[in-house]
Amino acid sequence: KMIKTLLASAVACTALAAPVVNAAPIEIKFAHVVAENTPKGKMAIRFEKLVEERLPGKVDVKVYPNSQLFGDNKVLEAMLLGDVQLAAPSLSKFQKYTKQLQVFDLPFLFEDMEAVERFQQSEVGQGLLKSVERKGLMGIGYIHNGMKQLSAYDPLKAPADAKGKKFRIQTSDILAAQFEQVGGIPLKKPFSEVFTLLQTKAVDGTENPWSNIYSKKFHEVQPYITESNHGLLDYMVVTSKEFWMGLPDDIRPVVEKSLKEAIAYGNEVAAEKTKADRQAIIDSGRSKVIAMTDAERQQWVEAMKPVWKQFEDEIGKDLIDAALAANQ
Ligand code: LMR
Repeated sequence: KMIKTLLASAVACTALAAPVVNAAPIEIKFAHVVAENTPKGKMAIRFEKLVEERLPGKVDVKVYPNSQLFGDNKVLEAMLLGDVQLAAPSLSKFQKYTKQLQVFDLPFLFEDMEAVERFQQSEVGQGLLKSVERKGLMGIGYIHNGMKQLSAYDPLKAPADAKGKKFRIQTSDILAAQFEQVGGIPLKKPFSEVFTLLQTKAVDGTENPWSNIYSKKFHEVQPYITESNHGLLDYMVVTSKEFWMGLPDDIRPVVEKSLKEAIAYGNEVAAEKTKADRQAIIDSGRSKVIAMTDAERQQWVEAMKPVWKQFEDEIGKDLIDAALAANQ
């Protein structure tokens, strides 16, 4: 009897102690839509590695690339419901949460990625990370992909070449307006559908940075790519305020530091991939890369620029001016 009681209490003790000793790790699901071999894909993997090295057994990061868990149209809602903890949607995909981030979509706004970096790191740029807080989200930082190029079945040299053509775009009214300005027909579609849309010719063309084109093989189904650098595709790394604030005080700073280091690494990858993937596309011979003269580029600038005025009130002129100021 005595032994039985002792045994029983030992079992009870173990059961009580178990949750403390073997507390389940905090799970961080990081969902994104691109391939692993991209700036964002590599950043996510680096984050997982850093956090798990620094917080062994305490935090478990699971990365879901290629829209495996959520597409970008669902991921932010899912985040607010607690079904995913981290994501880095393109800046073009926050329209439902804030109008301010739309500044990044204006065509021909930034001269190069250095200007983008200067703006993002400026006081105004850092302030924009907070623009989604009212909706329960928190921006942790920006990560680059790069400038977008125009791809299509037929060569796009002059803006008139886009007339009547269907273009897949991200869910952004600015991007819709941009293609409407050149007489194109914009269609908002998830990233996971782009290859099939192009392959089946359901759309004529699209816009994406070199690393997305290459990693998703869009160049194999788009015979022409115009090197237009007409707009930006960058990301905001986001989490939900509720999740972030709920992290224990000894965990949150480590997660944050790891995220920031992973972002810095992702930005190095972005710079490399912009060059290397562009070259790999040229070398593949599957798609002809069309260079633009300054005069040709100017035609596109003039055709697309009215979009700035169209959205000036929504975005705010001060914000547009602050972004422009980063060009020098
Ligand atoms: C797109 O939908 O074209 C991009 O947002 C995909 C991405 O995440 O780079």
